[in-house]
Amino acid sequence: MESLLNRLRPLARLMPEGLKGPLRGVVRDWQLRRALERIAALPPGHLPTPPLVEELRRGWGNLGYAARPEYLQELMERASTTPGPILECGSGVSTLLLGLLAGKRGVETWTLEHLPQWHARVSGTLERQGLRHVHNVLAPLRDHGGYSWYSPPVERLPASFQLVICDGPPGTTPGGRYGLWPVLGERLAPGAVILLDDADRPGEEEVLQRWRAEAAMRVEMRHVPGGAYAVITRP
Ligand SMILES: C[S@@+](CC[C@H](N)C(=O)[O-])C[C@H]1O[C@@H](n2cnc3c(N)ncnc32)[C@H](O)[C@@H]1O
Repeated sequence: MESLLNRLRPLARLMPEGLKGPLRGVVRDWQLRRALERIAALPPGHLPTPPLVEELRRGWGNLGYAARPEYLQELMERASTTPGPILECGSGVSTLLLGLLAGKRGVETWTLEHLPQWHARVSGTLERQGLRHVHNVLAPLRDHGGYSWYSPPVERLPASFQLVICDGPPGTTPGGRYGLWPVLGERLAPGAVILLDDADRPGEEEVLQRWRAEAAMRVEMRHVPGGAYAVITRP
């Protein structure tokens, strides 16, 4: 298929504009399915190579919002070793990797997503791939009194999470990602790790300050091309 696509590339210039978009969609879908299958076929304990992760990101095709490769690398390493359940805030290509790598070990992921159309797209891909260890929850944002955050189904969630992938809600949300701690902090196990993406944005810096003021969290910043993420350990 790849060599066929390479041979067809010069012809694409001659193609009517109206056909180029749909064709790009077909190629992306194929790239996504191939990357998912290759990752699923890796032996236990083996992580996808950076080119394979990049193929997955491109196949997913939401590059403006998808997590950066360095963040995904950290996520994969932790997802393939964490002893217990994972909480994810903000779904996307990261959710697929959690389903593939943690799910292979029987570790459950609970994902909170507030956008119905985004939730449907991620759920559809999880279902097609048979990634049954991810509970992708549609959790609209609501006012929690001074800040907005997801409305998680608290009674259904595991008693304690070991790892949090914190890449939502979007920065425009009042309070940003702050709500994780007051709403679900008591569900994080002592020593649990939070991977906070976009940690160098002013909104996330404020969130870090507020979290640190409320609990003695250990914060390590990781600067990467185009931004930073934080590795936070709950006391
Ligand atoms: C930074 S994104 C999460 C990305 C995800 N962790 C990933 O690696 O693909 C945070 C939230 O932005 C929203 N979002 C994702 N793509 C979007 C788009 N193209 N336009 C608007 N909002 C989007 C979704 O609600 C998502 O949960």
